[in-house]
Amino acid sequence: MGPNILAIESSCDDTAAAVIQNGHILSNIVANQEVHQKWGGVVPELASRAHMANIVPTVDLALKKAGVQKQDLHAIAFTQGPGLLGSLLVGTCFAKSLAQSLGIPLIPVNHMKAHILAHFIEDPKPSFPFLCLTVSGGHTQIVQVEDYHTMTVIGETLDDAAGEAFDKAAKIMGLPYPGGPMLDKLAQEGDERAFDFAKSRVPDLSFSFSGIKTSILYYLRKRVAEDPDFVEKNLNDLCASIQRNIVEMLTDKLTKATKKTGIREVAIAGGVSANSELRKQLGIFGKNKGWNTYIPRFEYCTDNAAMIAMTAHFKYLAGDFGDLGTVPMARMKI
Ligand code: KG4
Ligand code: ZN
Repeated sequence: MGPNILAIESSCDDTAAAVIQNGHILSNIVANQEVHQKWGGVVPELASRAHMANIVPTVDLALKKAGVQKQDLHAIAFTQGPGLLGSLLVGTCFAKSLAQSLGIPLIPVNHMKAHILAHFIEDPKPSFPFLCLTVSGGHTQIVQVEDYHTMTVIGETLDDAAGEAFDKAAKIMGLPYPGGPMLDKLAQEGDERAFDFAKSRVPDLSFSFSGIKTSILYYLRKRVAEDPDFVEKNLNDLCASIQRNIVEMLTDKLTKATKKTGIREVAIAGGVSANSELRKQLGIFGKNKGWNTYIPRFEYCTDNAAMIAMTAHFKYLAGDFGDLGTVPMARMKI
């Protein structure tokens, strides 16, 4: 029997816990924090407080669902970073206390590596080496993955993340936070060629989303000055066009990355991989260019502890542990 590991994720605004047994996820619990909605974005201090309130019941539920007793655990894993420092601290302190009280090892996990290794929770699994585009509210990266432990970031955003671009565009149009999913929904009824927005051109495999955000803002300001109902009248077309523009930026760089590396195994991860246009385009690119493409189930795309547990499993097998001196890191390289 392989190891039983309890994993805790608290890098941003979701408190999550999962149990993995011999590489199989037994439970995966996420407590979302509603408190940020009325502020139009995540408020770090409120996130830490909500983590403190949620962490005990979330961990209890994960153990109960898994049917695993604390005494049967072999290690406690936690997200070390990157993320909001106050949020990370809650998970780190909790993990340390529990591991110490049970006399078992700690496994610190890099959140960005975990997003990628979420692809190994279920079939089909990518083969090494593969490329992973990780796109969420906090990250936009293309990573070349050599094995479970060795990964290189070959492209990343110079400013906003792709999810942030969706959320900010939605906010400009008056949609509630987080606007990405609603923008996607409204785009279904719209003409994706109705509008075009200027994008910043950045070299090589880097991304930049600040230019398109500004161009949407200025364009709408001008049109709304002429007609106050402009956004309302064109909402579906605006959403569809913005979505197409952002997705084009992602697939352009992904195509560049496959050409540069010669790798045809292409995966996506993170909350934005829920976007219908990105999923559709990845399918089309896969067919046209002969890529094997991989998208994890949605619950393993957004922030979750199952991905932390999966990564911890590989680290456990490699004998790669942390200790009580391991500190959370707001910024952390892959
Ligand atoms: O991975 P995630 O749950 O949390 C972070 O680590 O940020 O990603 C959340 C992001 C938000 O920006 C949200 O608007 C975006 O993913 N998102 C979407 C869609 N679903 C979630 N963006 C576009 N289309 C969607 N369907
Ligand atoms: Zn994330």
